[in-house]
Amino acid sequence: MDLKEIDELKQSNIDLKAKIDKMDKEAREREEILFRQSRLASMGEMLGNISHQWRQPLMEIAALLMKVETRVVYENKIDIDFISEVMLEINTVLKYMSDTIDVFRNFYSDEKNKEKILASEIINSVEHMLGTSIKQSEIKYEVCLNRDIYFKIYKNEFLQVLINIINNAKEILLIRKIKEPKILLEVSENTEYTMISISDNGGGIKTNDISTIFKPFYTDKANGTGIGLFISKVIIEKKHNGRVAVDNYLQGARFIIKIKKD
Ligand SMILES: Nc1ncnc2c1ncn2[C@@H]1O[C@H](COP(=O)(O)OP(=O)(O)OP(=O)(O)O)[C@@H](O)[C@H]1O
Ligand SMILES: [Mg+2]
Repeated sequence: MDLKEIDELKQSNIDLKAKIDKMDKEAREREEILFRQSRLASMGEMLGNISHQWRQPLMEIAALLMKVETRVVYENKIDIDFISEVMLEINTVLKYMSDTIDVFRNFYSDEKNKEKILASEIINSVEHMLGTSIKQSEIKYEVCLNRDIYFKIYKNEFLQVLINIINNAKEILLIRKIKEPKILLEVSENTEYTMISISDNGGGIKTNDISTIFKPFYTDKANGTGIGLFISKVIIEKKHNGRVAVDNYLQGARFIIKIKKD
């Protein structure tokens, strides 16, 4: 090889490196766009959920006010104890409604740092965002939390992952019209990881190669985008140095999210 050839080789190496860098950058940009799309898609869904979440408490307040009306107007009784008891109940319901709004509002705020969040708090936020829609679908939703533990996470992104997975479970249970539909969320830990698993009894994942469900745009739903699980995997693996795995287990699918402890 003469000097000229070596120079050419060097140059083509440099060109190649530039090309790879450019491709890397483009891939990152594509991921970022999908990431935002997925947030927006869940935002639309979430707006629907706020109204679901509020319907029940609004009805509770209306019922409580009716109790007062019956006493005061029809029975002509003003019973201070009764009234303060009702006021207390109304306040509890209003607090719940206001917490729901906070959960939704925080969900769309940016977050710079990971935080240590208790599993119970994460579960409480999930309940505020999805609880009613799950109840309305008549799905039995259970949480198994033997010991409250901390997760070091970007809370909103982590919530987004849980919401994606739980919504998928809910959709499968409804699409396949499963009798006695169930979703179970379990929190656990070992020496290395904190973990949350989400399992359902929806009949499991039907692809030959189960890992394809994490590929971008893989969907078997008429109006699905197929980015939910892809983004979930990116969030857990790239931003939390964690793992997300799935298997068919008992009567359905089980997703396990593992976050490395410090
Ligand atoms: N719990 C589950 N049980 C069975 N199959 C599932 C389950 N969760 C996901 N899948 C399969 O994985 C596919 C990909 O899920 P993903 O959330 O990425 O997209 P999608 O739900 O189809 O679309 P979108 O999230 O945009 O509505 C689903 O279409 C479904 O076939
Ligand atoms: Mg989905």
